[in-house]
Amino acid sequence: MAVQQALVLAARRMTEAGIDGAARDARVLMAHVLQIDASRITLVAPDMLNIDAKTAFDACITRRIAREPVSHILGRRSFYGRDFTVTPDVLDPRPETEILIAEALSQPFSSVLDMGVGSGAIVLSLLAEQPLAKGQGSDLSEKALAVAQDNADQLGLSNRVSFTQSDWFEPITGLFDLIVSNPPYIALDEMPDLSPELSFEPRMALTDEADGLQAYRIITAGALAHLRPRGRILLEIGPTQGAAVADMLLVQGFKAVRIVPDLDGRDRVVCAVAPQSNSTQ
Ligand SMILES: C[S@@+](CC[C@H](N)C(=O)[O-])C[C@H]1O[C@@H](n2cnc3c(N)ncnc32)[C@H](O)[C@@H]1O
Repeated sequence: MAVQQALVLAARRMTEAGIDGAARDARVLMAHVLQIDASRITLVAPDMLNIDAKTAFDACITRRIAREPVSHILGRRSFYGRDFTVTPDVLDPRPETEILIAEALSQPFSSVLDMGVGSGAIVLSLLAEQPLAKGQGSDLSEKALAVAQDNADQLGLSNRVSFTQSDWFEPITGLFDLIVSNPPYIALDEMPDLSPELSFEPRMALTDEADGLQAYRIITAGALAHLRPRGRILLEIGPTQGAAVADMLLVQGFKAVRIVPDLDGRDRVVCAVAPQSNSTQ
Protein backbone atom coordinates (compact mmCIF):
# COMPACT_ATOMS: atom_id res chain seq x y z
CA MET A 1 0.00 0.00 0.00
CA ALA A 2 1.23 3.53 -0.79
CA VAL A 3 1.77 6.09 1.96
CA GLN A 4 -1.01 8.23 0.49
CA GLN A 5 -3.56 5.40 0.64
CA ALA A 6 -2.56 4.48 4.20
CA LEU A 7 -3.04 8.13 5.22
CA VAL A 8 -6.52 8.31 3.69
CA LEU A 9 -7.64 5.06 5.35
CA ALA A 10 -6.22 6.08 8.72
CA ALA A 11 -7.85 9.52 8.58
CA ARG A 12 -11.19 7.85 7.74
CA ARG A 13 -10.88 5.40 10.67
CA MET A 14 -10.04 8.20 13.09
CA THR A 15 -12.79 10.52 11.83
CA GLU A 16 -15.33 7.71 12.26
CA ALA A 17 -14.03 7.32 15.84
CA GLY A 18 -14.82 11.01 16.45
CA ILE A 19 -11.28 12.39 16.45
CA ASP A 20 -10.94 16.04 15.42
CA GLY A 21 -8.05 16.84 13.07
CA ALA A 22 -7.75 13.20 11.98
CA ALA A 23 -5.88 13.93 8.72
CA ARG A 24 -3.31 16.07 10.55
CA ASP A 25 -2.79 13.39 13.22
CA ALA A 26 -2.37 10.73 10.49
CA ARG A 27 0.38 12.79 8.79
CA VAL A 28 2.22 13.43 12.06
CA LEU A 29 2.07 9.75 13.04
CA MET A 30 3.17 8.62 9.56
CA ALA A 31 6.14 11.02 9.72
CA HIS A 32 7.01 9.54 13.13
CA VAL A 33 6.94 5.99 11.77
CA LEU A 34 8.98 6.93 8.68
CA GLN A 35 11.33 9.05 10.84
CA ILE A 36 10.99 12.08 8.61
CA ASP A 37 9.87 15.64 9.24
CA ALA A 38 6.09 16.03 8.89
CA SER A 39 6.68 18.72 6.25
CA ARG A 40 8.10 15.99 3.94
CA ILE A 41 5.02 13.74 3.94
CA THR A 42 3.74 15.03 0.60
CA LEU A 43 7.08 14.15 -1.02
CA VAL A 44 6.89 10.51 0.07
CA ALA A 45 3.11 10.10 -0.46
CA PRO A 46 3.51 8.02 -3.68
CA ASP A 47 6.08 5.63 -2.09
CA MET A 48 5.11 2.13 -1.02
CA LEU A 49 4.97 1.45 2.75
CA ASN A 50 6.95 -1.61 3.77
CA ILE A 51 5.26 -4.16 6.00
CA ASP A 52 7.07 -3.08 9.18
CA ALA A 53 6.17 0.57 8.65
CA LYS A 54 2.54 -0.38 7.88
CA THR A 55 2.31 -2.45 11.09
CA ALA A 56 3.87 0.34 13.16
CA PHE A 57 1.58 2.96 11.59
CA ASP A 58 -1.54 0.84 12.23
CA ALA A 59 -0.49 0.43 15.86
CA CYS A 60 -0.16 4.23 16.22
CA ILE A 61 -3.61 4.77 14.70
CA THR A 62 -5.16 2.18 17.02
CA ARG A 63 -3.64 3.99 20.02
CA ARG A 64 -4.96 7.34 18.74
CA ILE A 65 -8.44 5.86 18.26
CA ALA A 66 -8.24 4.79 21.91
CA ARG A 67 -7.80 8.59 22.49
CA GLU A 68 -4.15 8.47 23.51
CA PRO A 69 -2.74 11.98 22.79
CA VAL A 70 -0.41 12.24 19.77
CA SER A 71 2.39 13.56 22.00
CA HIS A 72 2.24 10.40 24.13
CA ILE A 73 2.41 8.19 21.05
CA LEU A 74 5.40 10.18 19.75
CA GLY A 75 6.93 10.39 23.24
CA ARG A 76 7.74 14.04 22.71
CA ARG A 77 6.22 17.49 22.42
CA SER A 78 7.58 20.71 20.99
CA PHE A 79 7.29 23.59 23.48
CA TYR A 80 8.64 27.12 23.05
CA GLY A 81 10.80 25.93 20.15
CA ARG A 82 12.38 22.92 21.85
CA ASP A 83 11.60 19.21 21.98
CA PHE A 84 10.65 17.68 25.34
CA THR A 85 10.29 14.03 26.23
CA VAL A 86 6.73 13.36 27.38
CA THR A 87 5.65 10.18 29.18
CA PRO A 88 2.42 9.14 30.96
CA ASP A 89 4.08 10.40 34.18
CA VAL A 90 3.91 14.08 33.17
CA LEU A 91 1.41 16.59 31.85
CA ASP A 92 1.75 17.09 28.11
CA PRO A 93 2.97 20.73 28.01
CA ARG A 94 0.28 22.95 26.48
CA PRO A 95 0.81 25.76 23.96
CA GLU A 96 -1.15 28.13 26.29
CA THR A 97 1.66 27.79 28.83
CA GLU A 98 3.99 29.52 26.37
CA ILE A 99 2.22 32.77 27.41
CA LEU A 100 3.71 32.33 30.89
CA ILE A 101 7.17 31.86 29.36
CA ALA A 102 6.88 35.04 27.28
CA GLU A 103 5.68 36.99 30.31
CA ALA A 104 8.49 35.65 32.52
CA LEU A 105 11.10 36.59 29.91
CA SER A 106 9.82 40.16 29.67
CA GLN A 107 12.10 41.06 32.61
CA PRO A 108 15.51 39.71 33.63
CA PHE A 109 15.98 37.19 36.48
CA SER A 110 18.91 35.19 37.73
CA SER A 111 17.07 32.55 39.77
CA VAL A 112 13.75 30.82 39.19
CA LEU A 113 11.67 28.27 41.10
CA ASP A 114 9.16 26.21 39.07
CA MET A 115 6.64 24.53 41.38
CA GLY A 116 4.97 21.41 39.95
CA VAL A 117 7.66 21.14 37.31
CA GLY A 118 6.27 18.10 35.44
CA SER A 119 8.28 17.55 32.24
CA GLY A 120 10.38 20.62 33.04
CA ALA A 121 8.93 22.52 30.09
CA ILE A 122 8.62 25.82 31.98
CA VAL A 123 11.86 26.02 33.94
CA LEU A 124 13.99 24.52 31.15
CA SER A 125 12.57 26.88 28.52
CA LEU A 126 13.29 29.82 30.83
CA LEU A 127 16.86 28.70 31.49
CA ALA A 128 17.49 28.03 27.81
CA GLU A 129 16.37 31.57 27.01
CA GLN A 130 18.20 33.19 29.96
CA PRO A 131 21.71 31.73 29.75
CA LEU A 132 23.04 33.14 33.04
CA ALA A 133 20.08 32.11 35.20
CA LYS A 134 19.84 29.12 37.55
CA GLY A 135 16.68 27.22 38.31
CA GLN A 136 15.02 24.77 40.65
CA GLY A 137 12.10 22.54 39.74
CA SER A 138 9.97 20.84 42.36
CA ASP A 139 7.24 18.24 42.13
CA LEU A 140 5.49 15.78 44.42
CA SER A 141 5.87 13.11 41.74
CA GLU A 142 9.25 11.36 41.74
CA LYS A 143 8.50 9.96 38.27
CA ALA A 144 7.83 13.45 36.89
CA LEU A 145 11.14 14.66 38.34
CA ALA A 146 12.96 11.85 36.50
CA VAL A 147 11.40 13.02 33.20
CA ALA A 148 12.36 16.63 33.97
CA GLN A 149 15.95 15.57 34.70
CA ASP A 150 16.04 13.62 31.44
CA ASN A 151 14.87 16.72 29.55
CA ALA A 152 17.46 18.87 31.33
CA ASP A 153 20.18 16.41 30.23
CA GLN A 154 18.92 16.37 26.63
CA LEU A 155 18.84 20.17 26.47
CA GLY A 156 22.30 20.52 28.05
CA LEU A 157 20.91 22.45 31.03
CA SER A 158 21.70 20.06 33.91
CA ASN A 159 24.49 22.27 35.24
CA ARG A 160 22.02 25.15 35.86
CA VAL A 161 19.00 23.33 37.27
CA SER A 162 18.24 21.13 40.27
CA PHE A 163 15.14 19.10 40.98
CA THR A 164 13.57 18.52 44.39
CA GLN A 165 10.75 16.29 45.51
CA SER A 166 8.37 18.53 47.44
CA ASP A 167 4.84 19.10 48.60
CA TRP A 168 4.66 22.67 47.26
CA PHE A 169 7.07 24.68 49.51
CA GLU A 170 7.94 21.75 51.78
CA PRO A 171 11.08 21.49 51.85
CA ILE A 172 12.07 24.39 49.54
CA THR A 173 14.65 26.81 50.95
CA GLY A 174 16.30 29.96 49.61
CA LEU A 175 15.16 33.11 47.87
CA PHE A 176 14.35 33.46 44.16
CA ASP A 177 13.90 36.34 41.70
CA LEU A 178 11.01 34.53 40.06
CA ILE A 179 8.48 31.87 41.09
CA VAL A 180 6.43 30.22 38.35
CA SER A 181 3.82 27.50 38.57
CA ASN A 182 1.19 25.79 36.49
CA PRO A 183 -0.48 23.82 39.29
CA PRO A 184 -3.35 21.31 38.97
CA TYR A 185 -6.39 23.60 38.69
CA ILE A 186 -9.31 21.50 37.48
CA ALA A 187 -12.06 21.18 40.10
CA LEU A 188 -13.11 17.67 41.10
CA ASP A 189 -16.64 18.19 39.79
CA GLU A 190 -15.28 19.18 36.34
CA MET A 191 -13.29 15.97 35.94
CA PRO A 192 -16.12 13.81 34.48
CA ASP A 193 -16.61 16.32 31.61
CA LEU A 194 -13.01 16.34 30.38
CA SER A 195 -11.99 15.00 26.98
CA PRO A 196 -11.00 11.30 26.91
CA GLU A 197 -7.40 12.28 26.00
CA LEU A 198 -6.93 13.69 29.52
CA SER A 199 -7.36 10.23 31.06
CA PHE A 200 -3.84 9.47 29.75
CA GLU A 201 -2.33 12.22 31.87
CA PRO A 202 -1.47 11.92 35.59
CA ARG A 203 -4.53 12.76 37.66
CA MET A 204 -2.39 14.68 40.16
CA ALA A 205 -1.30 16.99 37.30
CA LEU A 206 -4.91 17.87 36.51
CA THR A 207 -6.95 18.20 39.67
CA ASP A 208 -6.52 19.16 43.32
CA GLU A 209 -9.47 16.85 44.12
CA ALA A 210 -11.25 19.94 45.51
CA ASP A 211 -12.38 23.28 44.04
CA GLY A 212 -9.40 23.80 41.71
CA LEU A 213 -7.94 26.58 43.87
CA GLN A 214 -6.18 24.60 46.62
CA ALA A 215 -2.67 24.81 45.12
CA TYR A 216 -3.03 28.58 44.60
CA ARG A 217 -3.94 29.05 48.28
CA ILE A 218 -0.77 27.24 49.36
CA ILE A 219 1.52 28.83 46.78
CA THR A 220 0.31 32.40 47.30
CA ALA A 221 0.50 32.01 51.10
CA GLY A 222 4.12 30.77 50.98
CA ALA A 223 5.56 32.71 48.06
CA LEU A 224 6.70 35.92 49.82
CA ALA A 225 8.96 33.92 52.12
CA HIS A 226 10.78 32.60 49.01
CA LEU A 227 10.96 35.74 46.86
CA ARG A 228 13.53 38.50 46.89
CA PRO A 229 12.14 42.05 47.33
CA ARG A 230 10.56 43.04 43.98
CA GLY A 231 10.68 39.38 42.93
CA ARG A 232 7.92 38.21 40.62
CA ILE A 233 5.36 35.40 40.76
CA LEU A 234 3.58 34.07 37.64
CA LEU A 235 0.79 31.54 38.01
CA GLU A 236 -1.00 29.82 35.15
CA ILE A 237 -4.74 29.63 35.80
CA GLY A 238 -7.90 28.17 34.36
CA PRO A 239 -9.94 30.77 32.43
CA THR A 240 -12.42 31.42 35.28
CA GLN A 241 -9.90 31.60 38.14
CA GLY A 242 -8.26 35.00 37.51
CA ALA A 243 -10.17 37.09 40.04
CA ALA A 244 -9.87 34.50 42.83
CA VAL A 245 -6.10 34.05 42.37
CA ALA A 246 -5.51 37.80 42.00
CA ASP A 247 -7.36 38.35 45.32
CA MET A 248 -5.18 35.75 47.05
CA LEU A 249 -2.04 37.61 45.92
CA LEU A 250 -3.41 41.03 46.98
CA VAL A 251 -4.31 39.70 50.44
CA GLN A 252 -0.71 38.51 50.88
CA GLY A 253 0.60 42.02 50.07
CA PHE A 254 1.74 41.47 46.46
CA LYS A 255 1.85 44.54 44.21
CA ALA A 256 1.16 45.12 40.51
CA VAL A 257 -1.26 42.20 40.33
CA ARG A 258 -2.54 41.69 36.78
CA ILE A 259 -4.07 39.00 34.61
CA VAL A 260 -2.65 38.17 31.18
CA PRO A 261 -4.87 36.55 28.53
CA ASP A 262 -3.82 33.76 26.15
CA LEU A 263 -4.00 34.01 22.35
CA ASP A 264 -7.69 33.00 22.49
CA GLY A 265 -8.39 35.97 24.77
CA ARG A 266 -9.02 33.82 27.86
CA ASP A 267 -7.45 34.68 31.22
CA ARG A 268 -4.31 32.51 31.47
CA VAL A 269 -1.59 33.90 33.77
CA VAL A 270 -1.76 35.95 36.97
CA CYS A 271 1.39 38.04 37.57
CA ALA A 272 2.42 39.94 40.68
CA VAL A 273 5.47 41.57 42.27
CA ALA A 274 6.69 41.18 45.85
CA PRO A 275 6.89 44.42 47.85
CA GLN A 276 10.21 46.30 48.13
CA SER A 277 10.53 45.36 51.77
CA ASN A 278 9.32 41.90 52.55
CA SER A 279 8.05 41.62 56.15
CA THR A 280 7.94 37.78 56.01
CA GLN A 281 11.75 37.54 55.56
C1 LIG B 1 -0.53 21.03 35.53
S1 LIG B 1 0.92 20.06 35.86
C2 LIG B 1 2.18 21.18 35.26
C3 LIG B 1 3.41 20.51 34.71
C4 LIG B 1 4.38 21.46 34.00
N1 LIG B 1 4.82 22.51 34.90
C5 LIG B 1 3.73 22.08 32.77
O1 LIG B 1 3.30 23.24 32.84
O2 LIG B 1 3.65 21.41 31.73
C6 LIG B 1 1.00 20.21 37.62
C7 LIG B 1 2.19 19.54 38.29
O3 LIG B 1 2.06 19.73 39.71
C8 LIG B 1 2.49 18.56 40.37
N2 LIG B 1 1.91 18.52 41.72
C9 LIG B 1 0.67 18.11 42.08
N3 LIG B 1 0.53 18.21 43.41
C10 LIG B 1 1.70 18.72 43.90
C11 LIG B 1 2.17 19.06 45.21
N4 LIG B 1 1.38 18.89 46.30
N5 LIG B 1 3.41 19.54 45.34
C12 LIG B 1 4.21 19.71 44.25
N6 LIG B 1 3.83 19.40 42.98
C13 LIG B 1 2.58 18.91 42.82
C14 LIG B 1 2.03 17.44 39.46
O4 LIG B 1 2.74 16.24 39.71
C15 LIG B 1 2.28 18.04 38.07
O5 LIG B 1 3.57 17.70 37.60
